[in-house]
Amino acid sequence: MDNWLDKIICGDCLDIMKKMPDNSIDLVVTSPPYNLKNSTGNGMKDGRGGKWANAALQKGYSHYDDNMPHEEYVEWQRNCLTEMFRLIKDDGAIFYNHKWRVQDGLLQDRQDIVSGFPVRQIIVWKRKGGINFNPGYFLPTYEVIYLIAKPDFKLSAKANGVGDVWEFTQEMKNGHPAPFPVALIDRIIGSTEAQVVLDPFMGSGTTAVVAMGLKRHYVGIELSPDYCEMAEKRIAKNKVESELLRHRTATLFDL
Ligand SMILES: C[S@@+](CC[C@H](N)C(=O)[O-])C[C@H]1O[C@@H](n2cnc3c(N)ncnc32)[C@H](O)[C@@H]1O
Repeated sequence: MDNWLDKIICGDCLDIMKKMPDNSIDLVVTSPPYNLKNSTGNGMKDGRGGKWANAALQKGYSHYDDNMPHEEYVEWQRNCLTEMFRLIKDDGAIFYNHKWRVQDGLLQDRQDIVSGFPVRQIIVWKRKGGINFNPGYFLPTYEVIYLIAKPDFKLSAKANGVGDVWEFTQEMKNGHPAPFPVALIDRIIGSTEAQVVLDPFMGSGTTAVVAMGLKRHYVGIELSPDYCEMAEKRIAKNKVESELLRHRTATLFDL
């Protein structure tokens, strides 16, 4: 497993996870593409924009079009979850972030993706709402994080006190169109004793950077070479900053 640690692997996460050994990961923290361009009514589909006109994701990801027939998307995500579940240890867990949406006037929760997996809890991530002029329903302001856990998974001591509704503003200063807020990932990883954290949809590298900061190991997988480069740069910058901080602290103590 040592060969995999603290690396960003650029490629398809299903192919790569299949090469990784069973029971090698303590924690998975991830947010897949949401299949946004395959939607009945948000203007993402044909580029007209609609309520998404100003959304960063209007242009999509750099190497992925996020537009699969729904059934195919569900099957793909279930295959990804199956691999993640195989990789985690008996006390491991998966924090799987997703978003519910309204399709043809009906709620599309993501039960079809997670059914059959041992979902222990749904955490509500309350974020700022986007722009939505749909008079048929209230402005959506949250995403969900499915905690899918193997039997022996436990949180760190006292971590459970924060409850299951978390408020974090989405990240604005990041070249990636859909990055995690650093504080959200800090909450997740910091609530566990996990030593090895995997993000198979690593994007700009938020999970890796937070894992490093908490002195844990990471394994990151990302399809887009552009985002792999972005993540590598962020990690390198973080290493330099923590070295500088260590140096300054050591110098302070020397005085
Ligand atoms: C929601 S974004 C993740 C953003 C990430 N959480 C961050 O903080 O930057 C989903 C990512 O999945 C990547 N992706 C799409 N298909 C993939 C695949 N088959 N394997 C690995 N990554 C993929 C996209 O390029 C995109 O960067």
